[in-house]
Amino acid sequence: MGKIKIGLMGFGTVGSGVWKIIQENRDKIIENCGYEIEVSKILVQDLAKKRDDAIAKEMFTDNPTDILEDENIEIIIEVMGGIEPAKEYILEAIKRRKHVVTANKALLASHGGVLMKAAKEANVKLLYEASVAGGIPIIHAIKESLSANRINRIMGILNGTTNYILTKMTSEKMEFETVLKEAQGKGYAEADPTSDVGGYDAAYKLTILARLAFGIDVKIEDVYREGITNITPIDIEYATELGYVIKLLAIAKEVNGEIELKVHPTFIPKEHPLAAVGDAFNAVYVKGNAVGELMFYGKGAGDLPTGSAVVGDIISIIREGKHQNKRVSEKNEKNQNRIKDMGS
Ligand code: NAP
Ligand code: HSE
Repeated sequence: MGKIKIGLMGFGTVGSGVWKIIQENRDKIIENCGYEIEVSKILVQDLAKKRDDAIAKEMFTDNPTDILEDENIEIIIEVMGGIEPAKEYILEAIKRRKHVVTANKALLASHGGVLMKAAKEANVKLLYEASVAGGIPIIHAIKESLSANRINRIMGILNGTTNYILTKMTSEKMEFETVLKEAQGKGYAEADPTSDVGGYDAAYKLTILARLAFGIDVKIEDVYREGITNITPIDIEYATELGYVIKLLAIAKEVNGEIELKVHPTFIPKEHPLAAVGDAFNAVYVKGNAVGELMFYGKGAGDLPTGSAVVGDIISIIREGKHQNKRVSEKNEKNQNRIKDMGS
């Protein structure tokens, strides 16, 4: 059985989730794509940091060229976060004809066009299922399963950290700062949690979804954005008294032929399905003109849910590659037969 070598750039919450899934679901992965996924190298920032003792120290490097220049590595997994050097490494990987999987919504929202164009020109895959709503396969759904639809509206809870904070502030009357620390401890929050609580993270995700769903070049600046930092215990109390819960909603909808994009805290009636979305869960409502209304629900952050989406993308790339190789070998076989026929 063959092996596909990958380079893991980043070994924090998501990177370690990816590692765990590759080790623990090894047999299932082989069954699903016919290859074993082998992590060749792991790029980190701080080599002195304590890591899983079961992983050989030599696996880790702080030098990106150990991955980028390794010709045996076919797929790069970028789970470092931030704009640079992530962008530079991804473009370099693409230039070297390596496929890329990334969870980096901030990068995709601001430079997705450049990265997609580079990948298309180099004829390599750039997949990013984990960038929106963690384990929920919403990118695949919009790109593939719903591609027969004209989508009119997307609405959802796209940030796990703020949902966790708002849920705990409501149900346990916890203080904002205390719950934020908990969310950080659980690996839900971004390295800089301002991105979560300020609504930027949800806006990045909305930008990515809107581009796919409406086929337009949406920029992050096009999104009206308001975070949850001004929500006080008194707001939560009033909402409860009036029969509402407060959720940070991300909304993309068509209004008179224009796409309106907004992220802001919203009062939701307690009976509404989105009101029941607690913890760090995400939910995405999509309305298409053929399919009607759909609701996706699941874990939107954390090591294994996000890792699940990343490894799913790796498997898709391997399957696609196998498919293409099969097509090439079938074509070669046909040509050989034609040559034989001509000779006889
Ligand atoms: P994290 O826990 O902060 O981990 C980042 C990892 O990248 C660390 O291992 C860090 O090295 C490494 N790193 C950072 N900058 C680097 C650099 N310049 N050179 C080499 N290594 C570098 O982050 P995370 O939560 O896993 O998130 C990673 C990405 O996934 C982000 O784009 C995030 O938005 C996205 N994402 C996260 C989640 C989630 O639930 N956390 C869900 C979906 C998407 P050290 O270990 O040495 O510090
Ligand atoms: N910080 C993000 C969140 C991680 O809380 O939703 C998942 O994208």
